[in-house]
Amino acid sequence: MKWKKPTDLSELDGEFTFAEDVIDPRSGAVLISKGTPSSKVKKLDRVISYLQEAGVRKIVIFEDRPPPVPPIQEIKRLVTIDIPLISSRVIHLSLMSFKDFVREVKSEHKIDLSSIAIPVKHLFQEIMNTQAIILSLLDNTINLDYLATHALNVAILSMAIAKRLGYSYKEIQTIGISSMLKDIGMLKIPPFIVMKKGPLTEDEREQIKLHPIYSLTVLKQVKKIDTNILISAYQHHEWVSGQGYPLGLKDKDIHPLAQIIAVADVFDALTSNRTYKEKIPSYQAISKLLGEATIHFKKEIIDAFFSFSGLYPQGSVVNLSNGSTAVVSENNEGTPLRPKVKVITNYKGEFITPYVVNLKDSDLYITNVVGDIGKRSIFY
Ligand SMILES: [Fe+2]
Repeated sequence: MKWKKPTDLSELDGEFTFAEDVIDPRSGAVLISKGTPSSKVKKLDRVISYLQEAGVRKIVIFEDRPPPVPPIQEIKRLVTIDIPLISSRVIHLSLMSFKDFVREVKSEHKIDLSSIAIPVKHLFQEIMNTQAIILSLLDNTINLDYLATHALNVAILSMAIAKRLGYSYKEIQTIGISSMLKDIGMLKIPPFIVMKKGPLTEDEREQIKLHPIYSLTVLKQVKKIDTNILISAYQHHEWVSGQGYPLGLKDKDIHPLAQIIAVADVFDALTSNRTYKEKIPSYQAISKLLGEATIHFKKEIIDAFFSFSGLYPQGSVVNLSNGSTAVVSENNEGTPLRPKVKVITNYKGEFITPYVVNLKDSDLYITNVVGDIGKRSIFY
Protein backbone atom coordinates (compact mmCIF):
# COMPACT_ATOMS: atom_id res chain seq x y z
CA MET A 1 0.00 0.00 0.00
CA LYS A 2 1.13 3.53 -0.80
CA TRP A 3 0.58 6.48 1.52
CA LYS A 4 0.49 10.15 0.60
CA LYS A 5 2.94 12.34 2.41
CA PRO A 6 3.07 16.14 2.12
CA THR A 7 6.77 16.94 2.03
CA ASP A 8 8.76 20.16 2.23
CA LEU A 9 10.52 20.89 -1.06
CA SER A 10 13.71 21.42 0.93
CA GLU A 11 13.41 17.90 2.41
CA LEU A 12 13.07 15.98 -0.87
CA ASP A 13 15.67 13.30 -1.05
CA GLY A 14 16.45 10.36 -3.33
CA GLU A 15 13.88 8.74 -5.61
CA PHE A 16 10.17 9.32 -5.04
CA THR A 17 6.86 9.47 -6.92
CA PHE A 18 4.58 12.50 -7.11
CA ALA A 19 1.24 11.63 -5.44
CA GLU A 20 -0.58 14.75 -6.63
CA ASP A 21 -0.28 17.07 -9.64
CA VAL A 22 2.27 19.85 -9.16
CA ILE A 23 0.69 23.10 -10.31
CA ASP A 24 2.61 26.16 -11.44
CA PRO A 25 1.16 28.90 -9.17
CA ARG A 26 2.03 31.55 -11.76
CA SER A 27 0.26 30.05 -14.77
CA GLY A 28 -2.03 27.41 -13.21
CA ALA A 29 -0.53 24.81 -15.58
CA VAL A 30 0.26 21.27 -14.45
CA LEU A 31 4.05 21.09 -14.24
CA ILE A 32 4.26 17.47 -13.13
CA SER A 33 1.39 14.96 -13.23
CA LYS A 34 0.60 12.74 -10.28
CA GLY A 35 2.12 9.28 -10.55
CA THR A 36 5.30 10.60 -12.17
CA PRO A 37 8.53 9.16 -10.68
CA SER A 38 11.10 11.82 -9.79
CA SER A 39 13.62 10.15 -12.12
CA LYS A 40 11.39 10.98 -15.10
CA VAL A 41 11.30 14.73 -14.39
CA LYS A 42 13.85 16.58 -16.47
CA LYS A 43 16.06 18.99 -14.52
CA LEU A 44 14.22 18.31 -11.27
CA ASP A 45 16.55 20.61 -9.28
CA ARG A 46 15.62 23.55 -11.47
CA VAL A 47 11.89 22.75 -11.23
CA ILE A 48 12.18 22.65 -7.43
CA SER A 49 14.03 25.97 -7.33
CA TYR A 50 11.41 27.48 -9.62
CA LEU A 51 8.59 26.27 -7.34
CA GLN A 52 10.33 27.61 -4.23
CA GLU A 53 10.79 31.00 -5.88
CA ALA A 54 7.09 30.95 -6.78
CA GLY A 55 6.21 30.45 -3.09
CA VAL A 56 5.46 26.69 -3.09
CA ARG A 57 6.61 25.07 0.15
CA LYS A 58 5.24 21.52 -0.03
CA ILE A 59 4.38 18.85 -2.57
CA VAL A 60 2.72 15.49 -1.97
CA ILE A 61 4.70 12.33 -2.63
CA PHE A 62 4.01 8.62 -2.17
CA GLU A 63 5.58 6.76 0.69
CA ASP A 64 5.69 3.06 1.56
CA ARG A 65 5.10 3.67 5.25
CA PRO A 66 1.95 5.15 6.83
CA PRO A 67 2.31 8.65 8.29
CA PRO A 68 3.47 8.78 11.93
CA VAL A 69 0.71 8.72 14.55
CA PRO A 70 1.18 9.39 18.27
CA PRO A 71 0.33 6.48 20.64
CA ILE A 72 -3.45 6.03 21.05
CA GLN A 73 -3.14 6.33 24.87
CA GLU A 74 -1.49 9.72 24.42
CA ILE A 75 -4.29 10.81 22.07
CA LYS A 76 -6.90 9.60 24.54
CA ARG A 77 -5.23 11.60 27.31
CA LEU A 78 -4.88 14.83 25.38
CA VAL A 79 -7.88 15.01 23.10
CA THR A 80 -11.26 16.21 24.20
CA ILE A 81 -14.18 16.23 21.84
CA ASP A 82 -16.20 19.40 22.27
CA ILE A 83 -19.60 18.04 21.37
CA PRO A 84 -22.09 17.28 24.10
CA LEU A 85 -22.16 13.70 25.33
CA ILE A 86 -24.87 12.10 27.40
CA SER A 87 -24.38 13.88 30.73
CA SER A 88 -22.27 12.24 33.42
CA ARG A 89 -25.03 13.03 35.93
CA VAL A 90 -27.54 10.88 34.02
CA ILE A 91 -24.94 8.14 33.49
CA HIS A 92 -24.22 8.03 37.24
CA LEU A 93 -27.90 8.07 38.11
CA SER A 94 -28.52 5.16 35.71
CA LEU A 95 -25.59 3.09 37.02
CA MET A 96 -26.59 3.66 40.64
CA SER A 97 -30.20 2.75 39.89
CA PHE A 98 -29.06 -0.39 38.10
CA LYS A 99 -26.97 -1.38 41.11
CA ASP A 100 -29.95 -0.79 43.43
CA PHE A 101 -32.02 -3.01 41.19
CA VAL A 102 -29.37 -5.74 41.26
CA ARG A 103 -29.31 -5.50 45.08
CA GLU A 104 -33.09 -5.88 45.21
CA VAL A 105 -32.94 -8.95 42.97
CA LYS A 106 -30.14 -10.50 45.02
CA SER A 107 -31.92 -9.90 48.32
CA GLU A 108 -35.17 -11.15 46.81
CA HIS A 109 -37.03 -8.14 48.13
CA LYS A 110 -40.02 -6.73 46.34
CA ILE A 111 -38.60 -5.50 43.03
CA ASP A 112 -39.59 -1.99 42.04
CA LEU A 113 -39.34 -1.05 38.38
CA SER A 114 -39.42 2.71 39.02
CA SER A 115 -35.73 2.57 40.01
CA ILE A 116 -34.99 1.74 36.37
CA ALA A 117 -37.83 3.63 34.69
CA ILE A 118 -36.76 7.00 36.11
CA PRO A 119 -33.15 6.99 34.79
CA VAL A 120 -34.38 5.65 31.46
CA LYS A 121 -36.68 8.69 31.22
CA HIS A 122 -33.63 10.94 31.74
CA LEU A 123 -31.62 8.91 29.23
CA PHE A 124 -34.39 9.43 26.70
CA GLN A 125 -34.08 13.23 27.01
CA GLU A 126 -30.31 13.01 26.59
CA ILE A 127 -30.50 10.73 23.56
CA MET A 128 -32.95 13.12 21.89
CA ASN A 129 -30.44 15.95 22.30
CA THR A 130 -27.06 14.41 21.46
CA GLN A 131 -25.48 13.21 18.26
CA ALA A 132 -22.51 11.75 20.13
CA ILE A 133 -24.06 8.37 20.82
CA ILE A 134 -20.98 6.19 20.22
CA LEU A 135 -18.72 8.54 22.22
CA SER A 136 -21.17 8.44 25.11
CA LEU A 137 -20.75 4.68 25.59
CA LEU A 138 -18.91 3.50 28.70
CA ASP A 139 -15.66 1.64 29.04
CA ASN A 140 -15.84 -1.36 31.36
CA THR A 141 -12.10 -1.76 31.86
CA ILE A 142 -11.84 0.78 34.69
CA ASN A 143 -14.37 -0.64 37.11
CA LEU A 144 -14.80 -4.11 35.64
CA ASP A 145 -18.54 -4.06 36.34
CA TYR A 146 -19.46 -5.45 32.98
CA LEU A 147 -23.09 -6.15 33.87
CA ALA A 148 -23.79 -2.48 34.71
CA THR A 149 -21.80 -0.80 31.92
CA HIS A 150 -23.06 -3.26 29.31
CA ALA A 151 -26.67 -2.71 30.46
CA LEU A 152 -26.31 1.04 30.09
CA ASN A 153 -24.45 0.91 26.76
CA VAL A 154 -27.05 -1.38 25.22
CA ALA A 155 -29.84 0.86 26.56
CA ILE A 156 -28.22 3.95 24.99
CA LEU A 157 -27.64 2.23 21.64
CA SER A 158 -30.99 0.51 21.35
CA MET A 159 -32.89 3.66 22.35
CA ALA A 160 -30.91 5.63 19.73
CA ILE A 161 -31.69 3.02 17.06
CA ALA A 162 -35.38 2.96 18.03
CA LYS A 163 -35.45 6.76 17.79
CA ARG A 164 -34.00 6.57 14.26
CA LEU A 165 -36.58 3.98 13.31
CA GLY A 166 -39.37 6.33 14.40
CA TYR A 167 -40.62 4.39 17.42
CA SER A 168 -42.89 6.23 19.90
CA TYR A 169 -41.75 7.69 23.22
CA LYS A 170 -43.41 4.79 25.06
CA GLU A 171 -41.69 2.17 22.89
CA ILE A 172 -38.30 3.86 23.30
CA GLN A 173 -38.86 3.84 27.08
CA THR A 174 -39.78 0.16 26.90
CA ILE A 175 -36.66 -0.75 24.94
CA GLY A 176 -34.51 1.26 27.38
CA ILE A 177 -35.89 -0.56 30.42
CA SER A 178 -35.71 -3.93 28.70
CA SER A 179 -32.08 -3.32 27.64
CA MET A 180 -31.12 -2.41 31.19
CA LEU A 181 -32.71 -5.56 32.61
CA LYS A 182 -32.24 -8.19 29.92
CA ASP A 183 -29.13 -9.76 31.51
CA ILE A 184 -30.39 -9.74 35.09
CA GLY A 185 -30.64 -13.53 34.81
CA MET A 186 -26.81 -13.63 34.70
CA LEU A 187 -26.97 -13.29 38.49
CA LYS A 188 -28.29 -16.86 38.57
CA ILE A 189 -25.31 -18.26 36.64
CA PRO A 190 -22.39 -19.46 38.81
CA PRO A 191 -19.88 -16.56 39.03
CA PHE A 192 -16.95 -18.86 38.16
CA ILE A 193 -18.50 -19.26 34.70
CA VAL A 194 -19.40 -15.58 34.22
CA MET A 195 -15.94 -14.42 35.35
CA LYS A 196 -13.98 -17.25 33.73
CA LYS A 197 -10.75 -16.27 32.00
CA GLY A 198 -10.25 -18.18 28.79
CA PRO A 199 -12.71 -20.04 26.60
CA LEU A 200 -15.84 -21.64 28.04
CA THR A 201 -16.50 -25.37 27.81
CA GLU A 202 -19.53 -26.56 25.87
CA ASP A 203 -21.41 -27.13 29.13
CA GLU A 204 -20.52 -23.66 30.48
CA ARG A 205 -21.66 -22.07 27.24
CA GLU A 206 -24.99 -23.88 27.53
CA GLN A 207 -25.37 -22.54 31.07
CA ILE A 208 -24.71 -18.96 29.88
CA LYS A 209 -27.37 -19.45 27.24
CA LEU A 210 -29.92 -19.97 29.99
CA HIS A 211 -29.63 -16.36 31.22
CA PRO A 212 -32.55 -14.98 29.15
CA ILE A 213 -34.77 -17.65 30.71
CA TYR A 214 -33.61 -16.64 34.21
CA SER A 215 -34.12 -12.97 33.30
CA LEU A 216 -37.71 -13.76 32.36
CA THR A 217 -38.25 -15.57 35.67
CA VAL A 218 -36.88 -12.62 37.68
CA LEU A 219 -38.75 -9.96 35.71
CA LYS A 220 -42.06 -11.80 35.93
CA GLN A 221 -41.97 -11.09 39.66
CA VAL A 222 -42.10 -7.34 39.00
CA LYS A 223 -45.62 -6.05 39.54
CA LYS A 224 -47.45 -4.60 36.52
CA ILE A 225 -44.43 -5.04 34.24
CA ASP A 226 -45.23 -4.38 30.57
CA THR A 227 -45.32 -7.62 28.55
CA ASN A 228 -43.20 -5.96 25.84
CA ILE A 229 -40.39 -5.53 28.39
CA LEU A 230 -40.64 -9.18 29.37
CA ILE A 231 -40.66 -10.53 25.82
CA SER A 232 -37.94 -8.30 24.44
CA ALA A 233 -35.66 -9.10 27.40
CA TYR A 234 -36.36 -12.82 26.99
CA GLN A 235 -35.63 -12.70 23.23
CA HIS A 236 -32.59 -10.38 23.22
CA HIS A 237 -30.26 -13.15 21.98
CA GLU A 238 -32.61 -14.37 19.25
CA TRP A 239 -31.33 -13.52 15.75
CA VAL A 240 -33.51 -13.34 12.63
CA SER A 241 -31.17 -15.94 11.06
CA GLY A 242 -32.47 -18.48 13.60
CA GLN A 243 -28.95 -18.88 15.01
CA GLY A 244 -29.70 -17.15 18.30
CA TYR A 245 -30.93 -18.55 21.63
CA PRO A 246 -32.70 -19.75 23.76
CA LEU A 247 -35.32 -20.79 21.19
CA GLY A 248 -33.64 -20.18 17.82
CA LEU A 249 -36.61 -18.08 16.68
CA LYS A 250 -36.63 -16.52 13.21
CA ASP A 251 -37.77 -13.28 11.58
CA LYS A 252 -41.24 -12.13 12.61
CA ASP A 253 -41.37 -14.54 15.54
CA ILE A 254 -38.91 -12.26 17.33
CA HIS A 255 -40.31 -9.16 19.04
CA PRO A 256 -39.27 -6.04 17.01
CA LEU A 257 -37.72 -4.42 20.10
CA ALA A 258 -35.71 -7.59 20.85
CA GLN A 259 -34.33 -7.43 17.31
CA ILE A 260 -32.99 -3.92 18.00
CA ILE A 261 -31.54 -4.90 21.40
CA ALA A 262 -29.75 -7.85 19.73
CA VAL A 263 -27.85 -5.49 17.37
CA ALA A 264 -26.93 -3.09 20.19
CA ASP A 265 -25.87 -6.05 22.34
CA VAL A 266 -23.54 -7.47 19.68
CA PHE A 267 -21.93 -4.08 19.00
CA ASP A 268 -21.25 -3.45 22.68
CA ALA A 269 -20.00 -6.99 23.26
CA LEU A 270 -17.57 -6.72 20.32
CA THR A 271 -16.22 -3.36 21.53
CA SER A 272 -15.82 -4.42 25.19
CA ASN A 273 -13.03 -6.22 26.98
CA ARG A 274 -14.12 -9.41 28.66
CA THR A 275 -12.16 -11.77 30.84
CA TYR A 276 -11.87 -14.14 27.86
CA LYS A 277 -11.43 -11.76 24.93
CA GLU A 278 -10.01 -8.42 23.86
CA LYS A 279 -12.26 -5.71 22.50
CA ILE A 280 -12.07 -4.67 18.86
CA PRO A 281 -12.19 -1.01 17.70
CA SER A 282 -15.64 0.35 16.90
CA TYR A 283 -14.90 0.77 13.17
CA GLN A 284 -14.15 -2.97 12.98
CA ALA A 285 -17.35 -3.76 14.86
CA ILE A 286 -19.27 -1.62 12.35
CA SER A 287 -17.71 -3.47 9.42
CA LYS A 288 -18.69 -6.78 11.04
CA LEU A 289 -22.27 -5.57 11.38
CA LEU A 290 -22.26 -4.40 7.77
CA GLY A 291 -20.51 -7.55 6.56
CA GLU A 292 -20.52 -11.04 8.01
CA ALA A 293 -23.18 -10.27 10.68
CA THR A 294 -25.82 -8.94 8.27
CA ILE A 295 -27.48 -12.33 7.93
CA HIS A 296 -28.35 -12.32 11.62
CA PHE A 297 -30.16 -8.98 11.76
CA LYS A 298 -32.79 -7.01 9.91
CA LYS A 299 -31.31 -4.58 7.40
CA GLU A 300 -33.38 -1.56 8.55
CA ILE A 301 -31.93 -1.94 12.04
CA ILE A 302 -28.33 -2.06 10.80
CA ASP A 303 -29.08 0.94 8.56
CA ALA A 304 -30.51 2.91 11.47
CA PHE A 305 -27.42 2.12 13.54
CA PHE A 306 -25.19 3.07 10.63
CA SER A 307 -27.03 6.39 10.17
CA PHE A 308 -25.65 7.70 13.46
CA SER A 309 -22.40 5.74 13.71
CA GLY A 310 -21.19 6.14 10.12
CA LEU A 311 -18.46 3.97 8.68
CA TYR A 312 -15.97 5.64 11.01
CA PRO A 313 -17.73 5.79 14.37
CA GLN A 314 -17.10 8.73 16.69
CA GLY A 315 -13.76 8.28 18.43
CA SER A 316 -12.06 6.57 15.47
CA VAL A 317 -8.48 7.81 15.00
CA VAL A 318 -7.79 8.33 11.30
CA ASN A 319 -5.13 9.55 8.93
CA LEU A 320 -6.16 12.26 6.49
CA SER A 321 -4.95 12.68 2.92
CA ASN A 322 -2.60 15.49 3.99
CA GLY A 323 -0.81 13.09 6.36
CA SER A 324 -2.29 14.53 9.55
CA THR A 325 -4.04 12.52 12.29
CA ALA A 326 -7.60 13.30 13.32
CA VAL A 327 -10.32 11.96 15.61
CA VAL A 328 -13.83 11.48 14.23
CA SER A 329 -16.20 13.65 16.26
CA GLU A 330 -19.48 13.46 14.40
CA ASN A 331 -20.98 11.55 11.51
CA ASN A 332 -22.60 13.35 8.57
CA GLU A 333 -25.74 11.48 7.68
CA GLY A 334 -25.75 10.57 3.99
CA THR A 335 -21.97 10.90 3.64
CA PRO A 336 -20.63 8.08 5.86
CA LEU A 337 -17.13 8.36 4.35
CA ARG A 338 -16.89 12.07 5.18
CA PRO A 339 -17.53 12.69 8.89
CA LYS A 340 -16.64 15.75 10.93
CA VAL A 341 -13.15 15.32 12.43
CA LYS A 342 -10.84 17.05 14.86
CA VAL A 343 -7.34 17.34 13.42
CA ILE A 344 -4.78 16.83 16.18
CA THR A 345 -1.37 16.41 14.50
CA ASN A 346 0.53 17.71 11.51
CA TYR A 347 1.84 15.34 8.84
CA LYS A 348 4.91 14.63 10.97
CA GLY A 349 2.71 13.21 13.76
CA GLU A 350 3.40 16.20 16.03
CA PHE A 351 0.50 17.50 18.13
CA ILE A 352 -0.88 20.85 17.00
CA THR A 353 -3.63 23.12 18.34
CA PRO A 354 -6.62 21.00 17.33
CA TYR A 355 -9.13 22.27 14.80
CA VAL A 356 -12.34 20.84 13.42
CA VAL A 357 -12.80 20.01 9.73
CA ASN A 358 -16.06 18.88 8.23
CA LEU A 359 -14.79 16.46 5.56
CA LYS A 360 -18.12 16.86 3.75
CA ASP A 361 -17.01 20.40 2.81
CA SER A 362 -13.29 19.72 2.38
CA ASP A 363 -10.88 18.31 -0.19
CA LEU A 364 -9.31 16.22 2.56
CA TYR A 365 -10.38 12.63 2.98
CA ILE A 366 -9.68 9.67 5.26
CA THR A 367 -6.88 7.42 4.00
CA ASN A 368 -6.95 4.83 6.81
CA VAL A 369 -8.07 4.11 10.35
CA VAL A 370 -5.30 3.67 12.87
CA GLY A 371 -7.31 2.99 16.00
CA ASP A 372 -9.97 4.16 18.33
CA ILE A 373 -9.88 6.33 21.45
CA GLY A 374 -12.41 3.85 22.79
CA LYS A 375 -15.26 4.36 25.13
CA ARG A 376 -15.73 6.87 27.88
CA SER A 377 -14.15 6.27 31.28
CA ILE A 378 -16.41 7.02 34.21
CA PHE A 379 -15.59 6.24 37.81
CA TYR A 380 -18.40 5.29 40.09
FE1 LIG B 1 -27.56 -11.31 27.28
